[in-house]
Amino acid sequence: MQDDLIRIEKMVKFYPVMRRGIFRSKQTGVIRAVDNVTFSIRRGETLGLVGESGCGKTTTARALLYLTAPTSGRAHFQGTDIIEVFERGAKEEILRIRRRLQYVFQDPYLSLNPRWSIAETVLEPFRVHRHLPENQWDDRLMELLELVGLEYYHAWRYPHEFSGGQRQRVGIARALAVEPRFLICDEPVSSLDVSVRAQILNLLIELQEKLGLTYLYISHDLSSVRFISDRVAVMYLGKIVEIAAVDELFARPLHHYTYALLTAIPIPEPDADRGHSVLKGEVPSAVNPPPGCRFHPRCEAALPQCREMPVELAPAGDEHLVACHNPR
Ligand SMILES: Nc1ncnc2c1ncn2[C@@H]1O[C@H](COP(=O)(O)OP(=O)(O)OP(=O)(O)O)[C@@H](O)[C@H]1O
Ligand code: SF4
Ligand SMILES: [Mg+2]
Repeated sequence: MQDDLIRIEKMVKFYPVMRRGIFRSKQTGVIRAVDNVTFSIRRGETLGLVGESGCGKTTTARALLYLTAPTSGRAHFQGTDIIEVFERGAKEEILRIRRRLQYVFQDPYLSLNPRWSIAETVLEPFRVHRHLPENQWDDRLMELLELVGLEYYHAWRYPHEFSGGQRQRVGIARALAVEPRFLICDEPVSSLDVSVRAQILNLLIELQEKLGLTYLYISHDLSSVRFISDRVAVMYLGKIVEIAAVDELFARPLHHYTYALLTAIPIPEPDADRGHSVLKGEVPSAVNPPPGCRFHPRCEAALPQCREMPVELAPAGDEHLVACHNPR
């Protein structure tokens, strides 16, 4: 579609499972971390990506940015095949794409170098990308700190002198340094105290409006996904099982896994009726995922064909896609 900023098409990422011997290792299988995933992100929107731990959210994001080479599949940014650029493009072209697509990590403490001052941290992308003359770095640093709600004097402090929320602001400033169009925010508030989560989410929303950014917001926390997203994609064991506008998804989940996730959200009133949660059992292994619909061993609505027939995303209403033989 014309207003798609990002399109991931048939993305696959398998990791080998190795058995180590004394003299040599042997491959015994593959982890199907991301298995034929297709979706688009529109210019200016936030697409939430949710699913239980290990379902492939981070791997999808890393394959999109070629931080890990995908096994197969394509990714487009503004119509350019970026996997092709990462694999065969000139160094300048790769850097140009890297500038436009940035990553905000879950734990700012681990992603910041403890020996670097905030100024060094935020300015480092300038050194790598060389897109700004050195005499403008100071002004740009000031501008970036102000954008994320930090003071200029913070520039000469070190990560350990900041609170978790402030460190995440530094992580965001660093991602914004090279004027990206698209940010992947991978669990950006999960490691933070509940009281500062809303501040960081509000900052992301504010920056999106001010700078015209597009986000892929990854989380297993549905409350924050609901708060920040325009549309939501639900992932289960390497597959996207449902995509819809956020209000539609929360009001009318069609996939039984989405419904189970929603009914599992804790709510303040203990007596309130949330329906009957169907999320039982463990997530099966991504090495030997169940055939047919991967959710069938945990699904109370499974039909005989769910155990054998693979199921792909199909339209189920206004911009609502679901991969289910027997939707709710
Ligand atoms: N570098 C790697 N080598 C081998 N297996 C990996 C690697 N990275 C991820 N995996 C496996 O791929 C699958 C998907 O992992 P991924 O980190 O993408 O999940 P996730 O949805 O981001 O989970 P979480 O919510 O815990 O962050 C998991 O089974 C994981 O163990
Ligand atoms: S395809 Fe079948 S097993 Fe999978 S969610 Fe739908 S009803 Fe349940
Ligand atoms: Mg992850």
